[in-house]
Amino acid sequence: MIKANPDPARTATKIGTFRWWSVSFAVVATALIVLLATQIVKSQPSGGGKSKTAAPAKSPLERGEYLVTILGCNDCHTPLSMGPQGPEPDMSRMLSGHPETMKLPPPPALTDAWMWAGTATNTAFAGPWGISYAANLTPDEETGMGVWTEETFVKAMRSGKHMGGSRPIMPPMPWMWYGKMSDEDLKAVFTYLRSVPRMKNHVPAYQPPSAPVKQ
Ligand code: HEC
Repeated sequence: MIKANPDPARTATKIGTFRWWSVSFAVVATALIVLLATQIVKSQPSGGGKSKTAAPAKSPLERGEYLVTILGCNDCHTPLSMGPQGPEPDMSRMLSGHPETMKLPPPPALTDAWMWAGTATNTAFAGPWGISYAANLTPDEETGMGVWTEETFVKAMRSGKHMGGSRPIMPPMPWMWYGKMSDEDLKAVFTYLRSVPRMKNHVPAYQPPSAPVKQ
């Protein structure tokens, strides 16, 4: 009987057409997924420096210079002097700390509201903690950080202890924030500090408060 056996050629064509569509669909879908994945990868922030727009990798020295610049170490460790537009850092004394030649009168009387004072150079500071003087960060052996090791520096920044182990480092040195840097960045900062011109400048010793701190 004809009805019992439908046209075998037509059935084959139908099956063939069906397969062709499903294969095409799979190919298009795969292509879309791949395209989407590529876009997602491209839009990720480039950590590995693979992107065409990424800055070239910096050496520890360059990274250290960058960090010291943007973290404002010069703000307190390089004395300000008066320029035509107001106070400006005296880069001939870069990172050499409070100038030893500057003789200071006793700090002004401080009250609860105005409770700390700084010199015009922004290198000496008086407050409830006593008087602190920005340290000489240049590699001079006698008056700077020449005898410091990388380990001393990392310890000092992490612990807030002078040379990583003795008295507390006083305000306004923001060691508690710098101490959050990665080991790599702290070491880069130290590498850069090692490279700056050495300067002999004997910074006065920290003076504790004369009277006990008012609570
Ligand atoms: C807001 C002012 C200020 C800024 C900014 C600052 N310092 Fe200091 N720093 C000080 C003062 C003040 C001292 C002295 C503190 C003391 O004698 O206890 C000091 C001390 C230090 C010391 C000596 C610590 C020790 O063990 O005695 C180092 C090292 C140092 N700073 C590094 C840095 C570096 C590196 C930066 C930038 C990443 C920086 N400082 C930014 C004010 C500052």
